[in-house]
Amino acid sequence: MGIKILGMGSYIPPLCVENEAFTSFLDTSDEWITSRSGIKTRHIADGELTVEMGVKAAKGALRDAGVEPDDVDLIIFSTVTADFYSPSMACIAQSGLGIEECMCIDVNCACAGCVYAIDMARRYLVSGDVKKALVISSERLSQITNYEDRSTCVLFGDGAAAYLLEKSDAFYTSYMGADGTGAHLLFARRPEKKTVFMEHDVPALPEEYVDWPDGVLYMDGREVYKFATRIMPRAVEKAAEKAGVSTESIDLLIPHQANIRIIKTAAQKLHIPMEKVFCNLDKYANTSSASIPIACEEARRLGRMPSGTRVCLVGFGAGLTYGAVIFDV
Ligand code: ACO
Repeated sequence: MGIKILGMGSYIPPLCVENEAFTSFLDTSDEWITSRSGIKTRHIADGELTVEMGVKAAKGALRDAGVEPDDVDLIIFSTVTADFYSPSMACIAQSGLGIEECMCIDVNCACAGCVYAIDMARRYLVSGDVKKALVISSERLSQITNYEDRSTCVLFGDGAAAYLLEKSDAFYTSYMGADGTGAHLLFARRPEKKTVFMEHDVPALPEEYVDWPDGVLYMDGREVYKFATRIMPRAVEKAAEKAGVSTESIDLLIPHQANIRIIKTAAQKLHIPMEKVFCNLDKYANTSSASIPIACEEARRLGRMPSGTRVCLVGFGAGLTYGAVIFDV
């Protein structure tokens, strides 16, 4: 049993930053960024919250589906850049959408977050407890980007997208996983404070973590690159194998939009030609868990997902997490 996309929406903040803008304060170039990552521009949120962007995307999904907010039974909100420690983004989005009663959950699975969220939503839908599920991904990576670190800051952007899902009889398979031994390769530490009763200093991180400023992303780019090019094909192959289908049966591959070189390597390993791969990272850069749904919304709007299309979404990210879903539209 699978999922039906009733509607999708996305929200891209208007402020567009070109590669050239980084050259005024960093030793970098448009040529380096484009050739190493495929990114040309990214959008940055200026004066709006992560949850506000998510609500705008979700309103778009409801409008697209022609469904009233009160028909939503479940909200799963995926983000690594929540505005609050508590309450959850899902609860604040529920209020922003004017939904009186529904289940609300946040997931933090980094760039694989939306794939995890879709897989979770599908399980609730199949159980029958939930009839309509909103999966929202919204990220303000600009809030955790270290703009003094040229090897990471040029790669990230902000944005949001949402799916309204219900259950269907169509084909569906998935494969999710994580490898916590790589947690130190990509992290942003929550700022610690010494409180009034503490005798000790704030706790140090385990020794495998490099010394890095609190609150901003550290990434070992080369190790993450190796992980990504290994794990994306593996997750897709495992998902396909579980259901006894071949990866060649995939009509449209929508990978996490981190780096065009990673995507090309993964597609090549899967024997999926680039004509079947949807990419828009040149415009939006890496928006973590929002990247797959932003790309999916655009692909759908451009008519790349007609009825019967076999779509594969595959993501990887901090954790290190990974996940692939394959479903027929
Ligand atoms: N401009 C100019 N030079 C730069 C820049 C920059 N912006 N950034 C790094 N360099 C330099 C480096 O300092 C290095 O110089 P050196 O050789 O003198 O030390 C040189 O360029 C080459 O650096 P590499 O790290 O080897 O470059 P590489 O080709 O590996 O590309 C990149 C780096 C783009 C980060 C790549 O490793 C990558 O894409 N890694 C995976 C990142 C990723 O996908 N993350 C996704 C998960 S994170 C998330 O989604 C939230």
